Amino acid sequence: MKNIKAIIFDAYGTLFDVNSSAEKCKEKIGDKWLDFANYWRTTQLEYTWLRSLMKRHKDFWQITQDSLDKSMKLYNIDSLMREELLNLYKNLSPFPEVKETLNKLKEANYKLAILSNGTPGLLNQLVKSNDLENMFDDIFSIEEVGIYKPDSKVYDIPVKKYRVQKNQIFFLSANTWDVSGAGNYGYNSVWVNRNNNIFDILDYKPSRKIKSLDQLLEII
Ligand code: LAC
Repeated sequence: MKNIKAIIFDAYGTLFDVNSSAEKCKEKIGDKWLDFANYWRTTQLEYTWLRSLMKRHKDFWQITQDSLDKSMKLYNIDSLMREELLNLYKNLSPFPEVKETLNKLKEANYKLAILSNGTPGLLNQLVKSNDLENMFDDIFSIEEVGIYKPDSKVYDIPVKKYRVQKNQIFFLSANTWDVSGAGNYGYNSVWVNRNNNIFDILDYKPSRKIKSLDQLLEII
């Protein structure tokens, strides 16, 4: 770990619980809330990949709304809930161990950053509303390069900013495809396997697997 120059986190699904928006409305949505939340998330990600391939970029907030609209139609969710779900999405909750883990890493003097599909505005609001704004040295958004993960231009952003070797970046994501993208690019890429998932077959085996971010403290 001596060689590590920065610890970089994915945001959605890794630091912040993407299902927490629908979960807070589960009384109104009913039993299907989790299926609906998963469909919304999957569609949102598909739209990032499709728009990158089509070279028709829209920012993550617009994509979040487009994917919500499709999901609400499919799951017959009352259109009156749209604003509420979107407002909650702007203020997603962090996973329970996030704050304490970041505090400890900061105390140990690691350079900490976020590298995310989110827009700068969304990411700044997320860290602010969760009282995490003093934790990060940098919040990198793909808007800087106008294409989504896992394009290598995205993973280039912190390498260029910090003038480090790719493998001097310790990257954590709960999204298996993001771990693969970052790992194939050359990061030291760690999988946060929160839900006992199966890893992808995409030419990269994560250097390490942890179940939640606090286990990072045991590694470093
Ligand atoms: C992000 C998505 C991949 O934050 O979760 O970039």
